[in-house]
Amino acid sequence: MKITVVGAGNVGATCANVIAQKELSNEVILLDIKEGIAEGKSLDIWQTSGINNYDTRVTGVTNDYTKTAGSGVVVITSGLPRKPGMSRDDLISTNAAIVKSVTENVIKHSPDAIIIVVSNPLDVMTYCAYLTANIPSSKVMGMAGILDTARYRAFLAEALDCSPKDISAMLLGGHGDTMVPLPRYTTVSGIPVTELIDSVKLDAIVDRTKKGGGELVALMGTSAWYAPGAAAAQMVESIVRDQKRIFPVCAWLQGEYGMNDIYLGVPVVLGKNGIEKIIELKLNEDETTLLKDSAKAVKEVMNVLDELNKK
Ligand code: NAI
Ligand code: 2OP
Repeated sequence: MKITVVGAGNVGATCANVIAQKELSNEVILLDIKEGIAEGKSLDIWQTSGINNYDTRVTGVTNDYTKTAGSGVVVITSGLPRKPGMSRDDLISTNAAIVKSVTENVIKHSPDAIIIVVSNPLDVMTYCAYLTANIPSSKVMGMAGILDTARYRAFLAEALDCSPKDISAMLLGGHGDTMVPLPRYTTVSGIPVTELIDSVKLDAIVDRTKKGGGELVALMGTSAWYAPGAAAAQMVESIVRDQKRIFPVCAWLQGEYGMNDIYLGVPVVLGKNGIEKIIELKLNEDETTLLKDSAKAVKEVMNVLDELNKK
């Protein structure tokens, strides 16, 4: 199955590199609007094939969607990170214009593609791609929850001095400070995490997770790419290998969790058909309140996009 990654910036190039190393497809197209950047990064990635022992061919193209034709999965990473002086609305309008035109081109050449959106603000850009693509919502989703739980698992592993491999975690809500990590659904080799760490330390880790993206922006002056790129590639893997793994994914809700017409992070089964099932957890009162708050914050930004689309 051909895979396309749109945007050959930090996240897109990392994602293509992980996809190649995992040999998720024989053919990966990396596309960018900036002349030469996708070609250069693809050539560089391809030149690691002999070192890392894979034969996935990564090809870079400048805005030529004919080369993406027939892709089974497309990852959209094109878009600007927020810059100083930019309002949230400015970011929405700039990135929505990019995501809209990219999605139109993607669907024109790959009408059967499953689309994974990475561009920020994530939940709203996923909504934008869904409105544009005009395909079932099971085939348009956003990447955030795998990244956010990976950060949470990494912080927990450090605190517990154990392997992150043994930490299993779930998280709900939007990709922002209102995200809802779920300690009640976090285990370490089957042991509830609450039996291994005190609540003060756990609360601090939950708080650090919520601000995990910002911590990296403060350190690097730009947003992260290794974990985001790997997280998007893990979604691609579950789809192309029909693994049916359960991950937190930004998905379109139609009644689940009592919510309608909203893109929000929830646990889903990811397989060859895209989102094959949305899993509804039995939340307690506090978790329900936090999820509602998160949904409210996402909905406000979705409304900004709806208003822009009316103009
Ligand atoms: P970047 O600036 O390194 O790369 C973005 C690339 O998109 C650039 O190479 C640019 O030329 C390209 N681009 C812009 N307009 C385009 C168009 N119309 N068609 C094709 N390519 C186009 O940015 P980076 O760090 O790769 O981040 C990309 C996006 O992902 C940002 O919006 C960022 O906020 C978001 N992000 C989301 C995460 C998540 O968890 N969902 C995590 C990390 C980043
Ligand atoms: C991140 O969480 C900023 O969405 C970006 O790293």
